[in-house]
Amino acid sequence: MALVALASAKGSPGVTTASLVFGALWPRQVLLAECDPAGSDVAIRMTGPGGAPLNSDRGLVSLAAASRKGLGDEVILAHSQQLDGGLDVMLGVRSPEQVGGMGGLWHPLGISFNQMQHGDVLADCGRIGASSPQLPVVQSARLIVLVCTATGSSVAHLRERLSSLVHHVDAQLGVVVVADPRRRDGVKQVWSVLDAMSVTVRHRWHLAFDPAGAAFFDGRGQGRLDKTQLIRSATDIVGEMAALVATPEQHEFDMAQAAFPQHEEWGQ
Ligand SMILES: Nc1ncnc2c1ncn2[C@@H]1O[C@H](COP(=O)(O)OP(=O)(O)OP(=O)(O)O)[C@@H](O)[C@H]1O
Ligand SMILES: [Mg+2]
Repeated sequence: MALVALASAKGSPGVTTASLVFGALWPRQVLLAECDPAGSDVAIRMTGPGGAPLNSDRGLVSLAAASRKGLGDEVILAHSQQLDGGLDVMLGVRSPEQVGGMGGLWHPLGISFNQMQHGDVLADCGRIGASSPQLPVVQSARLIVLVCTATGSSVAHLRERLSSLVHHVDAQLGVVVVADPRRRDGVKQVWSVLDAMSVTVRHRWHLAFDPAGAAFFDGRGQGRLDKTQLIRSATDIVGEMAALVATPEQHEFDMAQAAFPQHEEWGQ
């Protein structure tokens, strides 16, 4: 199966939210791996089945301690857990101070993620640069997706980061712009900036800026998640992304199988 790395250049454009949304809609078995050295947000924002708290002792740090046993599927899954709704997640470090404990694990981890038999892996790599500790995970990915917003500064940083990153990776590159669905002009401007670059970004997607939808991935959702603009815009993106890294036996996605977090008004 394949590793897809999601990352940003600067700011907080919505990488973690996009990773959770894409993971919930992914048409195949998938593990969301939090590889952001700045610290886990999933452990804080999300819950396990039935609203139970997640086990913050099980994740990347416990995996690092157990990695003497190798990094096969079984070991990786033993340090993962399920979110409410069913998405498998490997929680990231609790704080940047724990990154030192990861030692040289990032490199073999990236390779193992990309080779998991269990399913695909979506890695939330946070902000990425040439000297970021998690760069080896990004380098192992089959598809690298940078997330930005349709603002001048976000796009300027994206441009700079792509120009630098391209010397360190050789995977397919994609960009997700998080923008108000009505702001198609702003998104088009991002595409023209990319067109003017020597780096080829073949895969381009517009994810809706939608506070009501994003709230579900921040523990504050109300109403029907599946009708939100966020989910509607993400559904097509996920279909294309998953197809890009697919093995031939891909099947059509059924919304009823989405690993959404549950909510009391769900289904009304
Ligand atoms: N598509 C979206 N529409 C509306 N709000 C969003 C969207 N994506 C993220 N947000 C909001 O923006 C804030 C930051 O989102 P998120 O944590 O996903 O960003 P990030 O890029 O992972 O940030 P960081 O660099 O801190 O890890 C959160 O409050 C989240 O709810
Ligand atoms: Mg994040």
